[in-house]
Amino acid sequence: MALMTWTAAEFGTNVGFADDQHKTIFDMVNKLHDTAATGNRSEIGKQLDALIDYVVMHFKSEETEMQKKGYADFAAHKAEHDKLVGVCADLQKKFHAGEAEVNQDTTRFVRDWLVNHIPKVDKLYGPCLSA
Ligand SMILES: [Fe+2]
Ligand SMILES: [Fe+2]
Repeated sequence: MALMTWTAAEFGTNVGFADDQHKTIFDMVNKLHDTAATGNRSEIGKQLDALIDYVVMHFKSEETEMQKKGYADFAAHKAEHDKLVGVCADLQKKFHAGEAEVNQDTTRFVRDWLVNHIPKVDKLYGPCLSA
């Protein structure tokens, strides 16, 4: 069973690019979650790098749109992004140095962050970004 399932009711922001990117992120997390169970380190590393690259791109997309539209909560929203990127960059560095592992606790952590952030933080930009 997939770790995460995107539904419009739970995660829809009413902003097309954001919903599309969120769906892709869910797919990538699900894939990494399955791969994490195999212990195949080189494949885990590849998927981890791809996921982090994609999430960084996604955050930039949201931030660019929020700034373009003069979104009032931009700074607080970006601060949440920056915090996660910091945690991920640290884990990525340690993983590739052989100092940390990526397992299903890691993918559950990412899921928990997303299922909190998207409904509680991303959804708030819906009215502004879709206007
Ligand atoms: Fe998002
Ligand atoms: Fe966000």
